Amino acid sequence: MKKIKIALLGAGTVGGGVWEILQTNKDNIIKNCGYDIEVAKILVKDAAKKRKDIVPKDLLTSNYEDIIGDKEIEIIVEVMGGIEPAKDYILKALKSKKHVVTANKALLANHGEEIIKLAKDQGVHLYYEASVAGGIPIVQTLKESLVGNKIQKMMGILNGTTNYILTKMTAEKVDFADALKEAQEMGYAEADPTADVEGYDAAHKLTILSSLAFGTTVKFDEVYREGISKITSIDIDYARELGYVIKLLAIGKEEEGIIEMRVHPTFISKSHPLASVNDSFNAIFVKGNAVGDLMLYGRGAGDLPTGSAVVGDIIAVIKGKDQPPVQIEETASVDKTIKPMGET
Ligand code: NAP
Ligand code: HSE
Repeated sequence: MKKIKIALLGAGTVGGGVWEILQTNKDNIIKNCGYDIEVAKILVKDAAKKRKDIVPKDLLTSNYEDIIGDKEIEIIVEVMGGIEPAKDYILKALKSKKHVVTANKALLANHGEEIIKLAKDQGVHLYYEASVAGGIPIVQTLKESLVGNKIQKMMGILNGTTNYILTKMTAEKVDFADALKEAQEMGYAEADPTADVEGYDAAHKLTILSSLAFGTTVKFDEVYREGISKITSIDIDYARELGYVIKLLAIGKEEEGIIEMRVHPTFISKSHPLASVNDSFNAIFVKGNAVGDLMLYGRGAGDLPTGSAVVGDIIAVIKGKDQPPVQIEETASVDKTIKPMGET
């Protein structure tokens, strides 16, 4: 049996989910990729802290040198979050010719161009399916399945925490603060939930998807962003009376070479398919000039759904690791105009 060693950076919600899937589905994974995946080390902030017994304590370290210096570790799985030190660790991994899988949308939305370029220059694989919409395979869909299309529009619910809050406020009249607390307890929210409730997280994800869909590097600060923190029960009741629900939508479109990207709360007719996307579920409509309309739906956050995307990426790396990555233009330098923020 061939064996491959990987390291996890992070043992929180997502890291715990990845660990669980690697143990539970071990036989299937071996059958699929021909390798026994061994998690050799796990980086955490505080290796001494009391934690649930999800991952074995003897694998924990708080010293990245233990991981980057280990030549047998071929894949670094970054599920710790934040910009630094995650960025530094990923750049070091790529420079050491280790393949990288990451779930870090904030990092990719702000520094994706630099990271993707370095991976290409080093000839190593970089996968980031879990960075957008948890378990939904939208990154792979845009990068591979839909490459024969010109993408005209994407519209979706890309944040599980805010969708959970809005669902609870609408269906059960739970107040905002209590619903947010529940979402945090379920492991859906970011370390600082401001990223969720103020729309930063959905805007990060829209930045990543727009770069892939529209074939040019877009910048995070080119996305118009408004969150849900000002939505009250009065707004929700008013929407209900008029036959609508309120959802935090992320919309990206390209018309006549002009790209528009925005995230904001929106009134949606109750009969629209997005109106029935509830709890932590996400959904994304994509309109391509060949495929027409399609919609992907699934769990957008949480340990196992997100872990599913990460493990899929690990297996994709293993299957392709002996060949150089295909050089697709994820960060093309095509000049396109971005519609200024706030312009209607
Ligand atoms: P989390 O539960 O807060 O876990 C973070 C883990 O990383 C913890 O084990 C923590 O160590 C470790 N860590 C944090 N900062 C560190 C540092 N400076 N050095 C070493 N270790 C550090 O976070 P999460 O929810 O799993 O999210 C992780 C990443 O996945 C983020 O980028 C997030 O945006 C992304 N993501 C999350 C979800 C989700 O549903 N939660 C879905 C998709 C993507 P300690 O255990 O010692 O604190
Ligand atoms: N905080 C994010 C969300 C995690 O609620 O959607 C998944 O990316």
